[in-house]
Amino acid sequence: MTALARQGTPWAELEAQMIEAAQDDVDWRHGRVPMFIHFAGDDVLEVAKKAYQMYFSENGLGLRAFRSLARFESEVVQMGLGLLHGDSGTRGAMTTGGTESIFLAVKAARDIALARKPMSGRPQIVMARSAHPAFDKAAHFMGLEPVRTPLQADYRADPEAIAAALTPRTVLVVGSVPAYPHGVIDPIGDIAALAQSRGVWMHVDACVGGYIAPFARQLGADVPDWDFAVPGVTSISADLHKYGYSAKGSSTLFFRDAESFAGMGWSFDNWPRGQYFTNTLVGTRAGGAIAAAWAVMKYLGQDGYVRVTERVLATRRAYEGGAARLGLPTLGNPQLSILAYGCPDRDLAAVTRAMTARGWVMGNVTEPPGMHHMLNLTHEPVAGQYFADLEEALAAAPPVGAGSAQKLEARY
Ligand SMILES: Cc1ncc(COP(=O)(O)O)c(C=O)c1O
Repeated sequence: MTALARQGTPWAELEAQMIEAAQDDVDWRHGRVPMFIHFAGDDVLEVAKKAYQMYFSENGLGLRAFRSLARFESEVVQMGLGLLHGDSGTRGAMTTGGTESIFLAVKAARDIALARKPMSGRPQIVMARSAHPAFDKAAHFMGLEPVRTPLQADYRADPEAIAAALTPRTVLVVGSVPAYPHGVIDPIGDIAALAQSRGVWMHVDACVGGYIAPFARQLGADVPDWDFAVPGVTSISADLHKYGYSAKGSSTLFFRDAESFAGMGWSFDNWPRGQYFTNTLVGTRAGGAIAAAWAVMKYLGQDGYVRVTERVLATRRAYEGGAARLGLPTLGNPQLSILAYGCPDRDLAAVTRAMTARGWVMGNVTEPPGMHHMLNLTHEPVAGQYFADLEEALAAAPPVGAGSAQKLEARY
């Protein structure tokens, strides 16, 4: 057990200890981890770090004290809405991450639905099997019932299955841009039309795609309309700490109008310290995360995002090609930065163990069994090495069925 030492330790010594502590961490700078990191170059990282440090002590809870942060947040929201066909009615705020954005969308949808009409039984969230677990987490924490529907053969959400699952208790319908497991974009137009016809709130989870899909589209990717250009889309989550390339602890949550935005906030005054109001689940917020998001968006600009996106998309195509050469079929038709490919012939658990032994942290999908990547620029130079190692791992793995149990322990 580590007790708090009686005497402090000089920084130089701590720094050395901290460098030592990272010795066994995955070598993310060399693309060895398939997720968790969104790297757009050392220059972008430097801007994010410097901006974060400048506002390290400031608190996003106190926007009346820190006018700078209020301005940064407002401009971040405006820049985000500008990418997502926002108009004079759309609103939004920053949160600390995708999960918080999703929690607050669920809360807003639930509160507004219940305020409109009373309901007996638990309110329901209807979503495809591929939607992120943050919706189930939010449902669990807030007393809703998650209802998951089967996917189409191309791994996209199935609007017909969603239509069949709607009940008078449905308060929220979800579509993903893209869904995390296979990286494919759900048919947002169809789902939104359905939601609108039933008077149900539609949330688009663009935690991954929010800050890459608009640029991928400019570059010619097959990205259908999915944002506020689509009637029936009520709210959108878009993470700045993913393809916004900002510091961890930053996301945006956007709403179609002021009324739905009001569902995000929470206020209280029944205590001896006056009015308490937040738009977020958390109270104190890192000023650094707000400042870094603003600085990175300003630093990159649209051209910068397009440049980085072009390289990320080329990297995804390189991974698709590498997988195809080894007989591993890409699942569905990914258009952005996530792809998954199946491993139909070889024991995937054995392949995963062999790749782990070679220093790769593996990501796996389970339906069907396969491998998963959320790509960034750290993967660009290592694709060749990755597929050379994968070729050897596949050759050494037993074929599926020949005594192999395909017992895969896929972890997020
Ligand atoms: C589609 C999608 N939604 C939501 C989240 C949750 O984001 P966070 O980990 O920032 O809470 C993720 C994370 O990968 C995601 O891929």
